[in-house]
Amino acid sequence: GDSELERRFQAKIDADEKIEPKDWMPEGYRKTLVRQISQHAHSEVVGMLPEGNWITRAPSLRRKAALLAKIQDEAGHGLYLYSACETLNVSRQELVDQLLEGKAKYSSIFNYPSTTWADIGAIGWLVDGAAIMNQVPLQRCSYGPYSRAMIRICKEESFHQRQGYEIMLTLARGTAAQKRMAQDALNRWWWPSLMMFGPNDKDSPHSAQSMRWKIKRVSNDELRQKFVDVTVPQADFLGLTMPDPALRWNAGSGHYDFGEIDWEEFKQVLQGNGPCNRERMRDRNRAHERGRWVREAALAHAEKRRARAAA
Ligand code: 3HC
Repeated sequence: GDSELERRFQAKIDADEKIEPKDWMPEGYRKTLVRQISQHAHSEVVGMLPEGNWITRAPSLRRKAALLAKIQDEAGHGLYLYSACETLNVSRQELVDQLLEGKAKYSSIFNYPSTTWADIGAIGWLVDGAAIMNQVPLQRCSYGPYSRAMIRICKEESFHQRQGYEIMLTLARGTAAQKRMAQDALNRWWWPSLMMFGPNDKDSPHSAQSMRWKIKRVSNDELRQKFVDVTVPQADFLGLTMPDPALRWNAGSGHYDFGEIDWEEFKQVLQGNGPCNRERMRDRNRAHERGRWVREAALAHAEKRRARAAA
């Protein structure tokens, strides 16, 4: 019966074997993967919107080319992840419809506005920095298709983080007005970036099971702490001030102590009341409508090719 199947499944997980689409898996394992991978894919797609806002206003051709390349990468990350999700017997159409209808979650961070060019630097530096911290352990996820998608995505993410940090460095070393822009962006993106790692472990309903199934390899709080420890020295190098008066090095623990996250803000953003939630859904639906002709043309072309091949 199932208990024997469950036992054998868990033995494979414990032996660090990969679970592949054709393998038997508990329904809960499949469901939590569909939940996480689809939300991850939606995050990549919605994440293109705040950055797309600055393509026509990039300060130089080099910055414009780097931003275009990064956004194109994010679209590809979304497609790898939707494909990984389809191996779990959900259709791409179903996932896309859930997002368009506002029924699907995506990372809270993308509900914040990108109001100046410095935001593009802060997004690359902090948001992609946090995403890398979160995605590197996911390369060791027990589900084969997700793990392989992560390995490929992680290869491209380091360029995203580096181009963002270079923008911040240029601004921090620029005029007083440019340095103020960089500081303003850090002030607005720091705390929402910490929220990307999810609730505190004690308030995380999925963590325990996700760790038993080796989907989550490192806890929310541990990854968040690693991100803080790596990022504070980078802010120091930029000559920028972290917007957290409680932040200080703790020689005893070997980590930075930092202030309390505003979990009420986090909850509001997840409930759809963030600064840009409605705007993101409107823009996503508009883009989907405007792209309809491309999908129809691609389907018509595929149909003609099939008919020719069959003739
Ligand atoms: N934004 C939105 N929802 C969040 C969230 C956030 N920052 N953090 C947690 N949540 C949600 C969870 O999805 C869950 O809700 P659900 O049951 O409706 O799915 C609930 O809050 C409880 O959180 P848990 O910690 O119990 O849930 P998880 O075990 O799933 O952990 C996670 C949350 C760490 C985000 C995990 O889902 C994960 O690692 N996801 C994959 C990676 C990812 O999505 N990273 C952020 C995307 S940014 C990105 O990749 C784009 C980059 O290229 C710029």
